[in-house]
Amino acid sequence: MKKVFRKIGVLTSGGDAPGMNSVIKSVTCAAIEKGVEVVGILGGYSGLINERLRPLTKNDVAGIVSLGGTVLYSDRCDEFKTEEGMQKAIATCKKYNIDGIVAIGGDGTFRGATDLSIRGIPCIGVSGTIDNDITATDVTVGYDTAMNTVLALGDRLRDTCESHARCNVIEVMGRHAGYIAIETGLALGAIGVAVQEVPFDKEALFKKMKASRDAGQRSFIVVVAEGLGSEFSEGLAKEIEEETGVETRFVRPAHIVRGGIPTLADRNFAAKSGYKAVEVLLDGISDVVICSRHDEIVPIDIKYALILDRMYKNKLKDGDLDSFSNEQIEEMKKICAERKKYFTDMYEVVNAIGC
Ligand code: F6P
Repeated sequence: MKKVFRKIGVLTSGGDAPGMNSVIKSVTCAAIEKGVEVVGILGGYSGLINERLRPLTKNDVAGIVSLGGTVLYSDRCDEFKTEEGMQKAIATCKKYNIDGIVAIGGDGTFRGATDLSIRGIPCIGVSGTIDNDITATDVTVGYDTAMNTVLALGDRLRDTCESHARCNVIEVMGRHAGYIAIETGLALGAIGVAVQEVPFDKEALFKKMKASRDAGQRSFIVVVAEGLGSEFSEGLAKEIEEETGVETRFVRPAHIVRGGIPTLADRNFAAKSGYKAVEVLLDGISDVVICSRHDEIVPIDIKYALILDRMYKNKLKDGDLDSFSNEQIEEMKKICAERKKYFTDMYEVVNAIGC
C-alpha cells in the first residue's frame, strides 16, 4: 500500500552552498500545496538527533531565495555516522511524526540519507555543494554562483595586475575537484590553470609567460584548485616570480566563494530539484538523489550515485559493482569517461588561448 505523507522534514548538511535556500523554499511550498506539513531541521543531521525543529510555512520561506548560506543552518555531524546517533535521529522522526526527509548537501549528506532510508525513514537527496563533485549530476546547486564569485574576484585582480604589471595566483575551493578552477580559469583568460585531474606542465607555463612578458604583456592570472594543496599553490606563486621575473602575488578567497547571492541558474535548478524531490517522495520513491542529466531533472538511486563517484575517483572496492547490471556498469564507465574527457578538453583550450 502506498505510504501516506502528512509531514516531511527538510535539512541542509555539509558545507553550505548558495541556492540551498531556494531548495528549501521549493520543498516547503510544493509540499504545502499537496497538503503536507513541513518541518525545518536545524543544523543538519545533528538537528535531527537533538530535536532542533522548526515548522515552516509559505510565509517563512517567501523571501529567502535571494539569501546566500542556508536559513536552516548546516554542519558535519560525526554522531550521525554511529548507530546510536542514527537511532536518535529515527526516534526524533517517530516522535514528531516526520514521514520523510529531503536532505540537501553533498556525498556525505547522501550517505546519511541512504542510511536513514534503509532504516525506514524515506529520504531524498538534493545536491547542494559548490564543488560540483557529484558525478551522477551534471551540475550541483551552488556551483554556478561559486564560479561567478571567483570570476568577479579574478576580474578585480586582473585590474590591479594590469596597473602594476604583475601576476596573481588564485587558489580556489572545490575540495578534490577542479571544476571551479578550470571553468573560471577559462573565463578569466588565465595563462595557466592547475587542477588535480590533469598533469600540470609548470615549465611550459614559465616559458609562455616569459614570451608574453617579452612581447609586452603586463598582467597574468593563474588559477589553482585547492585540491593540489596550499604548499603547491603558494610555492607556484614564488616559482613564477623566480623563473619569469614577473612580480607575483598569491590570493586564497577560501570561504568567500561559498557565500553570496545565488545566481539565476542556481536558484532555478534548486527550485526544480526541490519540486521534483517532493513529487517523487510523495509518490513513494526514496533513497534517490535529484540530478540534472542532459538538462533533465531526474531521480537517481543514491547507491548508484555513490558507487559512480567511487568509480570516477578510481576508489572502487571489491564487490561494489555486484548489485549493478552490465548495462548500468557500462553507463557508469561512460559517464566517468565523459568527465575525464571534459578535463583534458578544457585543459587544452585553456592552454591554447590563455595568455
Ligand atoms: O565542500 C565545500 C567546501 O567548501 C570545499 O570546497 C572545501 O574544501 C571545504 O568545503 C571546506 O570545508 P570547511 O567549511 O569545513 O572549512
